[in-house]
Amino acid sequence: MENPATTPATPAPLIDVPDFEREAQTRLPHISWEYISGAAADEITLRWNRESYDRLRLMPRALVDVSRLDTRVTLLGRQHPLPILLAPTAYQRLTHPEGDLATARGAGAADVTMVASIFASNTIEEIAAVATRPLWLQLYIQRDRDFTCELVRRAETAGCEALVLTVDTPVLGPRNRELRSRFALPPGVDRANLRGMPNALGAHRSTEGAIFSALLDPSLTWKDIAWLRSITRLPVLLKGILNPDDAVRAVEAGVAGIIVSNHGARNLDTEPATIDALPAVAAKVAGRVPVLVDGGIRRGTDVLKALALGATAVLIGRPYLYGLAVDGAAGVTRVVNILRREFEMAMAVSGRPTIAAIDSSVIWR
Ligand code: FNR
Ligand code: LAC
Repeated sequence: MENPATTPATPAPLIDVPDFEREAQTRLPHISWEYISGAAADEITLRWNRESYDRLRLMPRALVDVSRLDTRVTLLGRQHPLPILLAPTAYQRLTHPEGDLATARGAGAADVTMVASIFASNTIEEIAAVATRPLWLQLYIQRDRDFTCELVRRAETAGCEALVLTVDTPVLGPRNRELRSRFALPPGVDRANLRGMPNALGAHRSTEGAIFSALLDPSLTWKDIAWLRSITRLPVLLKGILNPDDAVRAVEAGVAGIIVSNHGARNLDTEPATIDALPAVAAKVAGRVPVLVDGGIRRGTDVLKALALGATAVLIGRPYLYGLAVDGAAGVTRVVNILRREFEMAMAVSGRPTIAAIDSSVIWR
């Protein structure tokens, strides 16, 4: 028998998303950590994104046969084994040398869809070449509309199944931790999709004092949604809707889906938590298009709550980046599988063995 007093302790396994978050912080360079974990200004919305999930209480239901749990959902005509997607995040090579390719492989192994960022560290073609699950591309419409058109064409050719237009970022918010850590793209990290353009490299925010970025078009309006729809056969989802009136307008504009998001609290501090904004948006949309939500999802119970309050599916951002930081593709897969297991346990104990059985009565009133 080994003497436990003298046997060196093996490190505890990483069991949940907070474990991965702590471990990622110990491994990442300071500027990467600040870029990923930071948010706007006082980071009040960042806290609310979590606190609002924590405040919601769940209503269990006893003596339901939960011997078979079915987590499948249909989204844009496609069946997804799990109602979780990977949200678009820029500059993944800041997190891991294999960047978006590792994320795409990890997503494939976990059977989830990745939404690649226009500011990915790999081109959409490179990501598509390793993706084994449906791939979506997130866009910021560039001031150069011809370039945007060409990128949409490239996404179609690469086999992307949807476009996600982010509409909550006419300018970046005050990312003070980014500024304090003197965030800049290090050598070897660029905006791969933008190669050949003047803004493939360099800062993503403007010089001190200016608020506009060469990478974002602050003049976008609803007519640009019509334009984007006119140049592609792919479904277009809008990401970054919190206002129910905007949601109505989006449906009228013919979008294929809405993502309720506050950009991970990175842009407009003191916007509400997304889980608090979701019910009113879902009510106005009234099932005409799928409503997805992201921001603050760290537990399987959070996924249950989001679906109970009207979401068809959720997206996670920072959690899979923490997995990527800790263990590359395998870390991404592990994080998704942790959430899958927690979600399945939450379904079982709340007596909701299918997605269709998850309704607002899961929330304790
Ligand atoms: C983002 N997000 C984001 N969104 C987007 O539309 N395009 C992008 O390029 C990025 N980049 C990005 C980088 C990093 C480091 C983070 C953390 C986030 C926002 C992202 O898609 C998503 O809305 C949030 O991350 C969701 O919140 P959680 O899950 O991180 O709490
Ligand atoms: C971000 C941008 C690039 O959130 O979307 O950092």
